[in-house]
Amino acid sequence: MTSFGRVISVRGSQARVGLMATGQMPLSEVRATVGRFVSIRCLTSVIVAMITEVSCEGLPESDAYIATASVDLLGEILGGERPKFQRGVTNYPTIGDGVELITNQELRTVYAPSGSDQINVGTLQQDRSVTAYVDVEEMLSKHFAVLGSTGVGKSTGVSLLLNEILKSRPNLRIFLLDVHNEYGRCFGERAQVLNPRNLKLPFWLFNFEEIVDVLFAGRPGVPEELDILAEVIPVAKGLYTQYQNSDRVSLGLKRVDPKQIGYTVDTPVPYRLVDLISLIDERMGKLENRSSRIIYHKLISRVETVRNDPRYAFMFDNANVGGDTMAEVISHLFRLPANGRPMTIMQLAGFPAEVVDSVVSVLCRMAFDFGLWSDGVSPMLFVCEEAHRYASADRNVGFGPTRKAVSRIAKEGRKYGVYLGLITQRPAELDATIISQCNTLFTMRLANDRDQALLRSAVSDAAANLLSFVPSLGTREVLAFGEGVALPTRLRFKEVPPHQLPRGEATIATVPSVTAGHDMHFVSAVLERWRGATSHRDVPSSDSGMNERPQRTMASAEAPMLQPSMGLDPDRFSLLKKPLR
Ligand SMILES: Nc1ncnc2c1ncn2[C@@H]1O[C@H](COP(=O)(O)OP(=O)(O)OP(=O)(O)O)[C@@H](O)[C@H]1O
Ligand SMILES: [Mg+2]
Repeated sequence: MTSFGRVISVRGSQARVGLMATGQMPLSEVRATVGRFVSIRCLTSVIVAMITEVSCEGLPESDAYIATASVDLLGEILGGERPKFQRGVTNYPTIGDGVELITNQELRTVYAPSGSDQINVGTLQQDRSVTAYVDVEEMLSKHFAVLGSTGVGKSTGVSLLLNEILKSRPNLRIFLLDVHNEYGRCFGERAQVLNPRNLKLPFWLFNFEEIVDVLFAGRPGVPEELDILAEVIPVAKGLYTQYQNSDRVSLGLKRVDPKQIGYTVDTPVPYRLVDLISLIDERMGKLENRSSRIIYHKLISRVETVRNDPRYAFMFDNANVGGDTMAEVISHLFRLPANGRPMTIMQLAGFPAEVVDSVVSVLCRMAFDFGLWSDGVSPMLFVCEEAHRYASADRNVGFGPTRKAVSRIAKEGRKYGVYLGLITQRPAELDATIISQCNTLFTMRLANDRDQALLRSAVSDAAANLLSFVPSLGTREVLAFGEGVALPTRLRFKEVPPHQLPRGEATIATVPSVTAGHDMHFVSAVLERWRGATSHRDVPSSDSGMNERPQRTMASAEAPMLQPSMGLDPDRFSLLKKPLR
């Protein structure tokens, strides 16, 4: 191809190019516009650059040029026979070097998979015949985020990315927090789907802040009651351990000294609710003053109310029997062993609204702690939809422990093989330190100025020039930046087949077809979900705002309880039987 321009100045990683009308093609056909890749022919290499500005103003004093373009120098293609692309520039262009629109072959060289660890996510916007690959290792180990306004194809993109990752990393565990219960069918046999009906998450796995959040339904606890709880929980844990170690009959409640046992309120060892209540009762019995007894009474009834609420059955099953099921719970949640299903979809929309935050906190904390205590032997990707709800930039929004747990994975997870994938429609409302840890960003259309400003601060200068496209991207269109992609790239996600499209459960199960109309069965199914959702509190709001709670579905009491998959190697999990902290 003949040059359509020449380098007229070079400054740092930028250059100015004079565009000529004398090439074989008129400039309008070359379409030298912002966001396009060009190649600059140097002596020993071809520099890949991107046009960031095109202008007719301030033309050099020469008739040779009809316009100028600013370009960012992004990388270079080296080698003759077997060309290879590398990021960054070692040989700078000189004045007069020819500039061409990048060829299809050169684009292929830039995006050629450098190893087997690449997944195919779509095609380049500039040239649809070139496949866009993402480096899985880079994308996972340094965390990633999918950002975009509502309806632009984020969830569909996530289904695509995770399906590709499953193919390329069969040993990776994937844990997906499915806030709207829409991913149930996207991964077929490769994923187990958990919901309040088949999840077992014993209450004793909740740390102090989490169990307080459950008992007080998301409101701040009463300080006097919290003091009592903080005192009796470690004692109840100590009691349980003593039951395990010796003859129960020979032990009285009084003989346990919590300080000697060494458990804290947060140690993840079991305790029984009967013990907890009798410890509270015992303390209450020693009080003379009737008015101070009221506090104890209230606390006991608070524990009993939650324990008897069928919606909390996933936490309080066997609450009085005990049993250290931590190994089973973890093996079930995190697919160890995977048995051909390395993925878990955690459907959150069926949980009581006031408990979702604590459940997410427990799950996130356990994912990290398992990685930590197992030295990352089983790498796991933790994917969180609507991440701004769980890790909000505003410290007054959301549940502190959840933010702490997400932030811990973001900051330290990679050391322990725990990787994070965050999805949000409001990046500006996501904790900035957490998003700054995501080194591969898939940015889809974002209309809001604050979100765009945040992105500008999060990406490199070269990529920042692409961000001006963000408000005008079409559905499925993505700007991909960072470690996972060879260059900041405008691409289009692959067409996702219908069976992998995320869809609400109501839509899948009950809507027959648009033409057939809605029958009574459909209305009854809607009513069932509706009643389940509002039996206790809030109606889902139509505003998808920060304080929005997930839509509720009914946790049907008669649904079968699945048993956690057993078949564990006890030695491998012996670690979990010991106190972890
Ligand atoms: N890669 C794709 N292949 C096929 N269809 C797509 C693709 N991306 C988006 N779509 C279509 O666009 C619709 C909206 O996409 P999606 O539900 O993924 O958006 P979203 O950004 O997750 O929206 P929300 O913010 O409401 O969750 C999908 O139902 C699907 O029909
Ligand atoms: Mg979505």
